[in-house]
Amino acid sequence: MRIAIVGSGQLAQMLALAGLPMGIEFSFIVDKPDADIRCIEGLGKIVHSHKATSPEALYQALGMPDCITVEKEQLDVSLLESLAQFCPVRPNIEAVRTCQNRQREKLLLESLGIPSSPHFFLASKGDAQAAADAVTYPVVLKSCEEGYDGKNQFIVHTAQELLSIVSQEDITPCIAEQWLNFDKEVSIVGARATDGSMSFYSLAENIHHKGILTRSIAPAKALSAQQSQTAENYLSQIMEKLDYVGVMAVECFLLGEELLVNELAPRVHNSGHWTQLGARTCQFENHIRAIAGLKLGSSENIGVAGMLNLIGTKQAPLELADKLSSVHWYRKSPRPGRKLGHINFVGKDWAEVNKRMDNYLGLVKALSESR
Ligand SMILES: Nc1ncnc2c1ncn2[C@@H]1O[C@H](COP(=O)(O)OP(=O)(O)O)[C@@H](O)[C@H]1O
Ligand SMILES: [Mg+2]
Repeated sequence: MRIAIVGSGQLAQMLALAGLPMGIEFSFIVDKPDADIRCIEGLGKIVHSHKATSPEALYQALGMPDCITVEKEQLDVSLLESLAQFCPVRPNIEAVRTCQNRQREKLLLESLGIPSSPHFFLASKGDAQAAADAVTYPVVLKSCEEGYDGKNQFIVHTAQELLSIVSQEDITPCIAEQWLNFDKEVSIVGARATDGSMSFYSLAENIHHKGILTRSIAPAKALSAQQSQTAENYLSQIMEKLDYVGVMAVECFLLGEELLVNELAPRVHNSGHWTQLGARTCQFENHIRAIAGLKLGSSENIGVAGMLNLIGTKQAPLELADKLSSVHWYRKSPRPGRKLGHINFVGKDWAEVNKRMDNYLGLVKALSESR
């Protein structure tokens, strides 16, 4: 069996690394001329897609895959549409289209009665005054597409500020979303197979810095069984509605007892990297199993797991990671704010795992100060 993945980043890399031991071969579609392909070198054929190439020629160049999947939602869906005549695209194109646009995501959630942060949709700059009058401040302006790791987002405190940002920045269509003083950010990752069966990982608690995920720990501490069940219900309703196949993640804000959805990811997710060490079957293998038409593997936890992102560092001192952790380095070129790798930790309890993650960061800091 061969699977083609759209994208060339670390998620594509880890999907292939999970599927290769299952005898699956991979090829990769690079849809951006300037994309960094170092993550996927050596893992399968790399094919650059050009507008001039016919879909047949592209499909042939990919080695006639049995299935096509994605490692990201920000892509031109017409590429997927042109390939869908040859083999299944999983998750399906409509699911990718929905999740690549914040307003479409909000409409899907509303249709299912799933709560998310209140927002006002601005189709164009002309909607700025109506938005400025309607919202409760502070709000965060988020472009509907092309945002990740907090990019294309502006926190605004007054109507005047909102009007000036919308007039100056190329941000519409966008949403003006109420800023929430949440207690915690949590996420749920789950998978749905071709026969409709589903499997869910424990919720992870996620810590962000400047809009970028820095740390996850799972199972999230002090969640009630009711809250975990609610998150599973949200994800299961969303996947069923979309007739979804593969792994999906839902980011949520926890406010008191209430769980509000922040955003959806139609793919494996950074807040699920802990599953590589902390669950019986990791999210990457479960995505491959799902899209290959196989049974899902167990998503049961093995102890408490933590994940520390290695961000924007030249070369993180990986040798400082303790012996019960496992290191992933993606081979990307360093850049401020860029995710270059992660370390997974597994231990007996929450305090121990957090302490070991703090310990690693402390050693890195001490090393950099001594240089
Ligand atoms: N409405 C909000 N209220 C409070 N914090 C928010 C809100 N929206 C986003 N954030 C913060 O910014 C981070 C990134 O925003 P998000 O919408 O998840 O975009 P991205 O696609 O960049 O991950 C969130 O994880 C959260 O920490
Ligand atoms: Mg997010």
